[in-house]
Order: sequence, then structure tokens, then C-alpha cells
Amino acid sequence: MKKPIRVAITGAAGNIGYSLAFPIASGAMLGPDQPVILQLVELPMAMNALSGVAMELDDCAYPLLHGIEIADNAAQGFKDADVVMLVGAKPRGPGQTRADLIRDNGPIFTGQGDAIDQNAAQDVKVIVVGNPCNTNALIAASRCKRTPRAHYTAMTRLDQNRAVGQIAKKLGVAPAAVRDVFIWGNHSDTMVPDFSLGYVAAAGEKKPVASAVDAAWLAGDFDKTVRTRGKAIIDARGKSSAASAAFAAIDHIHDWFLGTGDNTVVSMAVPSDGSYGIPEGLIYSFPCRITGPWKYEIVQGLTIDAATQARIDNSTKELLAEREAVKDLL
Ligand code: NAD
Ligand code: LMR
Repeated sequence: MKKPIRVAITGAAGNIGYSLAFPIASGAMLGPDQPVILQLVELPMAMNALSGVAMELDDCAYPLLHGIEIADNAAQGFKDADVVMLVGAKPRGPGQTRADLIRDNGPIFTGQGDAIDQNAAQDVKVIVVGNPCNTNALIAASRCKRTPRAHYTAMTRLDQNRAVGQIAKKLGVAPAAVRDVFIWGNHSDTMVPDFSLGYVAAAGEKKPVASAVDAAWLAGDFDKTVRTRGKAIIDARGKSSAASAAFAAIDHIHDWFLGTGDNTVVSMAVPSDGSYGIPEGLIYSFPCRITGPWKYEIVQGLTIDAATQARIDNSTKELLAEREAVKDLL
């Protein structure tokens, strides 16, 4: 029997948290033979709701769930955690941008960054979901002294999944047939969905996305739909995406740990190492490949056309402005 992996989740009684804990306990994130211990963290005022989530997890009698710990503070909640999923934060409402949340949510990530660095396993892996997730991850990563900065990531996998879903629907193929579509930049409207490496493998054929799908649709509706899907869901549901966000967070950690099976490209917002001229340290969504358990590499050597480069620069500019807005927290 493998040693259980400890997974801490903040905001575990919230919308996303409630969609996240159960599939993780079932083995969907870390594998069908990997035991897990869930460390669920909430604000003190939500502990009653959290105890209900813990009861329901008990009632599922998941074979892989070797423990449930609940905490109303990050220091206790992150103790010895191997994976920390930072979900707990305010969602935006109608009419707000994700960046509007920065002064409310940013301060959460100073204390949580310290708590990770001081209490979690030394090689902890972190995903930030709470918005604006790139800059919140930057804040958390800025506190790390003991834990590796490269392990602080933010989620743009939902944006990638949205891109894949749109193309699959347009072509009438299964989403698994659409590979290597990815996202550059910020999890915001300035993100750049990129299909230049993308291909569609269906009916025994492998075709580049660019030749399989109408160019005007790719440049128009597709691009806009992916970039603004979060708002469309808030407008329709009155609440931000939850199940799809939880599923994307599971994909992010699943692939980081277990790989994609076929070395396909995954979008992860990771601390820039200067690749493609992105300022070092910014948490930026890049095309990545998983090279082993908990190992990612930014895909190198891509040729970027002038129009895409201008959009990448625009997303960088936005992230630099967000960094400036929270410089007192870094
Ligand atoms: P929610 O309001 O339903 O739940 C948030 C939960 O976090 C609440 O239960 C709250 O008590 C808890 N919380 C708040 N501050 C906390 C703290 N300091 N420590 C522990 N728990 C805390 O919100 P939600 O719909 O679950 O969304 C959570 C966040 O995820 C939002 O910021 C939202 O914008 C973001 N989000 C990001 C993506 C993405 O793709 N990156 C997708 C969807 C949502
Ligand atoms: C999303 O993309 O669905 C989330 O970031 C929620 C939001 O505010 O758009």
C-alpha cells in the first residue's frame, strides 16, 4: 500500500471546494491506487458547513480516503501537506473583473504563503485557484524561503479545457481528440488561447487545428468565448464556475503528478524563468510538458507571429500592473 498523499484545500466548504473534495477522495486526481488524506481548511465562520462536508465524505466510505482533517487556520491546515490547493477567496460578481478582487483577496495569500512555507512538506506543490489567481500565486510564492518557488502555480487549465471543448463541439469530435491547444498569460480577458501547435486526431487522421477549423471562427468567436467564458457563466448562473473549475484543478494536479500519457501540452501558470521574454518570476501561463512525477518544463522554441506576440505582451503588461498594485504584499 502506498503512503497517503496529504492534500490541503482552502475554501473547502465553498462552491468549488464542494465539487473538489469528493473526486479527489475517489482517486480521480492522484490515481486509482493512491491513498489520500484530506486537510480541509475554512474560515472560522464556515466550520459548521465544513463539518457537513466532512460528514458526507465519511458517508461515501471511499476506499482511498485514509483521513479527513478539518482546520479553521492555515498553519494547522497545511501541516505536512504534500499538495496545497488554494481555492478559498472571494469570487467576482456581475460587472466585476477578476483584477477587481485583488485588494480583497491578495492579503489572504501572504498569510497562506507563510503558512505553506512554514508547515507544509518541504517539496509541497501548490495550485492557486482563488482570483486573480496568477497574482495571488505570485503573492504566496513571494513568501517562500524553504519550499521551491517553481512549485507555486496558478490555474489556467480551465481556460485550456474551455478551448478544447469549443473546438471539439465545433468539429463534432470527442474532446480527447483535440490536443496541444494551450493558453498564454493571465487568467483574465487578456489571456491568449493558442492553437498553433494544436491538432485534431479523429477517424484515423491527425490534422492541425488551423486546417481543421474555419479560420474566421478561430480568430473571432472561439477566441472571445474562451477569454470571456468566466463572465458568461456568472451571467447565466449568477455564480462563478464551480464544477468545471474543480475539474480543471484536478486535471492540473493529475497531469503534473501522473503525466498526460502522450506527452501532450498542458497550460500551467508557473513562475517565469525568462522564457519568451516574460519577466522572471511573474506567474504566467505557458505551454508546458510534464517530464516526470511533479516535473514540468516550459515548451521552448515556438515561433510566435507578430499578432500573437502583441497579445502576449499585453497580458504581460496587465500582470506587471497587477504586481505593482500588490507590491506592498510581496
Ligand atoms: P465561494 O464563495 O463559493 O467559496 C469560497 C470559500 O472560501 C468560502 O467557503 C469561504 O468561506 C472560503 N474562504 C474565504 N477566505 C478564506 C481563507 N482565507 N481561508 C480559507 N477559506 C476561505 O467561491 P468559489 O466559487 O468556490 O470560488 C473560489 C475562488 O475561485 C474565487 O476567487 C473564484 O473567483 C475563483 N475561481 C477561479 C477559477 C480559475 O480558473 N482560476 C475558476 C473559478 C473560480
Ligand atoms: C472562471 O474563469 O470561471 C473563474 O475565474 C471565475 C470568474 O470570475 O470568471
